[in-house]
This record gives sequence, C-alpha cells and structure tokens, in this order.
Amino acid sequence: MKILITGNMGYIGPCVTRRLRSILPDATLIGLDTGFFANGLTNAKILPECMVDIQYFADVRYLPPGLLDDVDAVIHLAAISNDPMGNQFEDVTFEINYRASIKLAKSAKKAGAKNFVFASSCSMYGTAEDAARTEESSLNPLTAYAKSKVSTEKELATLAEKGFQVACLRFATACGMSDRLRLDLVLNDFVAGAVASRQITILSDGTPWRPLIHVKDMARAIEWAVFRNSDQGGEYLAVNAGSDEWNYQVRELAEAVAEVIPDVTISINKDAMPDKRSYRVNFDRFKRLAPDHQPEVDLITSIKELKNGLAEMGFKDADFRNSHYMRLKALTDLRHKGYLSENLEWQNI
Ligand SMILES: NC(=O)c1ccc[n+]([C@@H]2O[C@H](COP(=O)([O-])OP(=O)(O)OC[C@H]3O[C@@H](n4cnc5c(N)ncnc54)[C@H](O)[C@@H]3O)[C@@H](O)[C@H]2O)c1
Repeated sequence: MKILITGNMGYIGPCVTRRLRSILPDATLIGLDTGFFANGLTNAKILPECMVDIQYFADVRYLPPGLLDDVDAVIHLAAISNDPMGNQFEDVTFEINYRASIKLAKSAKKAGAKNFVFASSCSMYGTAEDAARTEESSLNPLTAYAKSKVSTEKELATLAEKGFQVACLRFATACGMSDRLRLDLVLNDFVAGAVASRQITILSDGTPWRPLIHVKDMARAIEWAVFRNSDQGGEYLAVNAGSDEWNYQVRELAEAVAEVIPDVTISINKDAMPDKRSYRVNFDRFKRLAPDHQPEVDLITSIKELKNGLAEMGFKDADFRNSHYMRLKALTDLRHKGYLSENLEWQNI
C-alpha cells in the first residue's frame, strides 16, 4: 500500500505518520511538506520524517511530477492551519487550503487513488448557542480559515464517486504532545501557562464551548477513514471527529488543568468580548460509523502528558504566546526575515 501524507511536518502529521508506520510496517509512506515549521521540533527522539519512506519538500500548490504514481490513499493535512494565520494571509489561505486541495484531489483521482482523507474542522460551525451541531446543521464559518474548509468540502463532494472515496473529518480542536508541539491551541496553552508561570489566562469570559480531541485519537480517526468501506458512510462522507464527552467550556478546561497542576491561578477576562467561536458538536455519526476508533485519551491524561512533555523540554517561557510555538509568530518571523514571500513561498534561501 502507498499512502501520501501532506503537511506531515506539522503538529498532527508526526502522530499520523507514527500511527500508520506502526500498523502498516510494509506500506510505502510518502510525506509532502513545505517545511514552514520543520525546525520547531519538541522532544522528538528521532526526526519524525525518518518514519516515512520518501519525503518531498514541496509546496502543495505545485505538485511534483510522479508524486501520485500508484498512490492508494491521500491524507491531506497541509494547510494554513488556524484563524490568526488565515486572517493575516487571507488570499494565500484560500489558495493553499482550498484551490490546492481541490487540485490535489483531482490529480489523485486521475492517478487512480482510491481514497482521499481531508482534515476538515468543526470551526465551520462558528457560533451556535443552541443544540450540539450535527453534520446536517447549518454552517457558519466566521473566518477565512473556516471558509476555506467549507469551500473545499463542497467541491470535494462533487469529486467523490465509486472508486474514489472522500472523507472530510471535521476535527474538534486538537490537543496533546507532538514532535512539533503547538501552543496556540487552547488546552496546550493552558498547560503551558500553568507550567511556565502558574498562571492560566483565559482570553474570553470562559463560557465558549470548545470540543477537543487528542492528536493520537485524530491519527486513529484518520486510520479509520483510510480503511473504511463505502458502506461506512458512502463515497462522500463529512463527519464530526471527536467525542461527546469532550464538549467542554473553556473555563472547565482551565479548571481541569488547575486540578492537575497545583497552585495555579486562573484569570478570566470578564471584560472580554464574547468569543465568537462557540459550539457544541454532536459526534453520533462518528460513533456509529467508527465504533472501534472512538477517542480513547481522556482530558486528565492529556493534561498530565502535556505537563510531562513540557517538563522534559525544560519549558519555562512565560511569554510563550510571543514565541515560535505559535504558528502565526513562526510564519510572520520567516516573512519578516525575508525567507517567505508575500505569497508564502520560500525565497532568499
Ligand atoms: N490543530 C487543530 O486543532 C486542527 C483541528 C481541526 C483541523 N485541523 C487541520 O489539520 C491539519 C493539520 O493541522 P496541524 O495542527 O498539524 O497544523 P500545522 O500548521 O502544525 O501543520 C500544517 C503543515 O502543513 C504545511 N503546509 C502549509 N502550507 C503548505 C503548502 N502550501 N505546501 C505544503 N505544505 C504546507 C506546514 O508546513 C505544516 O507542516 C490542517 O489542515 C488543519 O486545518 C487541525
């Protein structure tokens, strides 16, 4: 079996690669990444890319010749991966997250790939004060990032047919340790604050709902999507990937961190504008279709794992919100140093 993983050199990619390598020791795993955050290794015992058989340092907007030859499945993670980056680089976000994704899917289909797994996002539900969002609920993408995911899903739906299965996994917000840790994700941020300064600062009034999923469980969901049959969701499937037990309010997440890490102060910004993004998500479809691949890691385990991972890193940076653990900061630094063009293409290197 030959599997292409785009965006394999980010936060989720190494976990996905490790999972696939462990269950498919003989498969040919191919990585493709432009390497924006490649030097942001955190505690990796080995370079995670040693787990793939072939690594392309390439931009998903310009597919290298032969990339898709004999590829059975594509796992498409490469993207401008959050709202702050999407806001700052709006046009490029649309170009990479939407246009390049569709071009990749069309090329994969043409080359004979059977399966396309797209890392979509629950952020497309935007804000929803009432019931938990199902896949049939109306979408309310509030940002360039969320809009790019909606557009991609819509067009992928038109490409799916017998012989070319597409799964859009609408992931909850990720958390957990990775070989390339991100701290611009809510739980990771809270644990980092607690470890570095015994202080958790909630940048809202704490009430927004934010479902979470651990990176290891994301990798298991992706594994499921790669191997699912068409009777598990049809040729085209959009599914919320996470679990009902992980629908938390931001304040509850902070409190859970304070339970694990003693002497932590939580400050809630009572004057904050209400966080526009707030939604509960209904994960029934995922539970029904993938009963053996339901999330397993629980909140307290995730917090302890992050705490230990940060301790191993000797992490002490109380000002981490201005550090390279924030994807936007890493990207804008590369821009300011002249290594990335306005279009986020490498230059002067
Ligand atoms: N982290 C989350 O909470 C979360 C939640 C839902 C969905 N997702 C989706 O999962 C995917 C992976 O997220 P992540 O947290 O690992 O993000 P990340 O930013 O850590 O990784 C994204 C990777 O894509 C690469 N990339 C970006 N543009 C590229 C291009 N033009 N060509 C080639 N490579 C490119 C980057 O170099 C990076 O290694 C993204 O599609 C993201 O939208 C993430």
